[in-house]
Amino acid sequence: MTFEFATAQRVLFGPGMRQQLPGLVAGEGTRVFVIIGGNQERYREVVDLLKTEPFELATFSVSNEPDVSTVGAALEQARAHRAEAVVGVGGGSVIDTGKAVAALLTNPGKLFDYLEVIGDGHPLRAAAAPYFAVPTTAGTGSESTRNAVIGAPDHKVKVSMRSALMLPKYAVVDPELTLSSPARVTATAGLDACTQLIESFVGIKANPVTDGLCREGLILAGRSLRTAHADPNNLDAREDMSLAALMSGIALANAGLGAVHGFAGPLGGMLGASHGALCARLLAPVTRTNLSALRARQPGAPTLARYEEAARLVTGEVSATADDLVRWAESTASDLSIESLSHLGMTEERIPDAVAKARASGSMKGNPIELTGSELAAVLRAAL
Ligand SMILES: [Fe+2]
Repeated sequence: MTFEFATAQRVLFGPGMRQQLPGLVAGEGTRVFVIIGGNQERYREVVDLLKTEPFELATFSVSNEPDVSTVGAALEQARAHRAEAVVGVGGGSVIDTGKAVAALLTNPGKLFDYLEVIGDGHPLRAAAAPYFAVPTTAGTGSESTRNAVIGAPDHKVKVSMRSALMLPKYAVVDPELTLSSPARVTATAGLDACTQLIESFVGIKANPVTDGLCREGLILAGRSLRTAHADPNNLDAREDMSLAALMSGIALANAGLGAVHGFAGPLGGMLGASHGALCARLLAPVTRTNLSALRARQPGAPTLARYEEAARLVTGEVSATADDLVRWAESTASDLSIESLSHLGMTEERIPDAVAKARASGSMKGNPIELTGSELAAVLRAAL
């Protein structure tokens, strides 16, 4: 067995850990570029914390999932500010924007020089500027991944800027910051984390280190996702979900993903729907299709036992079978009011285009079994 494992240089986890931020940032410089989400009130406390040190602060707000123009504008301001350190406080969109900005502050040129697929895909050469990823949602695990997902509206796709040099230097994960996360975000981001844990665990690049993280993460998410949604001020449940999300990010950055994420990228570009909402809706139909494809074409595959183990971990039932994982994903999505793909703008006519794009995506290659075009189309039809 051979594998590589890399993650954020320092991970600081726990309620109140945001208080460490001013001191840590001070160790990296005084000219600080802060990226926050659209609802400025939600991020005021952390921004005010940074004002307790004599920093030169510049602030940039990201309202939606970032596209090339958002990242370009943020970069321009960060360069004009001559930023020495970058702090991203928000959901995956904010954290990803910060990751791209921190990388481009120290590498010459423009975003398109480094973008996959639609850009030149040049590798980054220099270490990114010191980056502090401070998540306020529990889901994407972006604080511990090595890529930034960026929309390109002209191309109707989402593409990544990706490099081991983009792993944040600091992941500061304070579950108290997720207490104000809206119910819909708690649901969709939480199911995104579950999807990431499952896809990393059953995927072809799983390794023993990521396996350990996935097992623990599935137990935490299984016992706390519904509670965090129904009782948003329950800090124990929020803490479990923050930890599950962090673990899912570490796992996916090293073990890759599968067909849910293979679809989420192209569909996000086509529909403009949020990443979490797409993953939340697709988890059950993809899991069902993967199981039936494995049973039909690779009946002895060890992955089937993996699915059964994931089912036991997430449901907490020692006798759970792999099919119980599908039932769990279905009932959780239904109880958490996850919308169908048609609500997100998907139509029957767009299925062939979505399938073609998904088949070419990097995440699809990590799926435990290669799915046929008709199987992929059936997944989308079941999620409409
Ligand atoms: Fe995801």
